[in-house]
Amino acid sequence: MNNVAQDTSYPFVLNRVGEAAGAEILGVDLSQPFDDDLRDAIVRALVANHILVFRDQDLTSEQQMAMTERFGTLERHLLHDVKGHETPQVHVIANVDENNNPIKRTYGSFHWHTDKSYHEIPSFATFLHARELPPDGGQTEFANMHLAYETLDDATKKQIEGLKAIHSWEANRRNTGSKPATPEEIKLRPPVVHPLVRTHPDNGRKALYIGIHTDCIEGMDREEGIALLKRLYDHATERRFVYPHSWRLGDLVMWDNRSLLHRVLHNYDMSQHRRVMHRSVVIGTRPE
Ligand code: OGA
Ligand code: MN
Repeated sequence: MNNVAQDTSYPFVLNRVGEAAGAEILGVDLSQPFDDDLRDAIVRALVANHILVFRDQDLTSEQQMAMTERFGTLERHLLHDVKGHETPQVHVIANVDENNNPIKRTYGSFHWHTDKSYHEIPSFATFLHARELPPDGGQTEFANMHLAYETLDDATKKQIEGLKAIHSWEANRRNTGSKPATPEEIKLRPPVVHPLVRTHPDNGRKALYIGIHTDCIEGMDREEGIALLKRLYDHATERRFVYPHSWRLGDLVMWDNRSLLHRVLHNYDMSQHRRVMHRSVVIGTRPE
């Protein structure tokens, strides 16, 4: 998958790492303050490549928070199982118990999704910093939703034009086989409606906006809508649209939720190995 092609139009080294999407960036230290020109160049590279892999990063939580805020408004996070409890804006995703021992866990992120699509204002960019990794496995996979849309046949493009999907936390629980959402959770996170095809505000390209948080299609027979969503999901996650990221320690990956689905692979022994990631997010705009 390493068709390294260098793009020299940026004030840093940028190498394409995937066929479908993805670039690595060398020579940028995100722990240090950076000016607007560098910030704008990073956003330009993100919009063109959808996933940026910053190698060899070493940031404290405070530095990750300061870096993230340069790209927009930090997203707040609710802990799903503790009502109203808020986690820090740079939070840890790790398969560890209270004694820091590795444990087998189940995550909703095993399934293809785009972050917080069950919110009216979903995530723009997610930042994940690898602090501890299993010896192998635990890749994060990204699927390019622009390519997924553009490769649909004309009849399907016509069929889905103007359609809207309902996304909800309740559907996420059901679709992932998790314990059902409680009435409190449903009240806290009522269903939302988003266009099935959204137009990226920065690159102008259309993208399928689907994933494991979808429930059904607004105004369509429920089963028919679910079948359509399943057909689009299967198409959108074909291997030709996927960049699988094999993590190196110190990688900080920034991705654009407006262009991608993603998931994490549980293909390592979670009861033996820790995978510790520091995560932060900036919110986006209403999908249109
Ligand atoms: C996320 C996510 C995948 C991973 O942080 O939003 O889906 O690789 N994580 O842990
Ligand atoms: Mn995610």
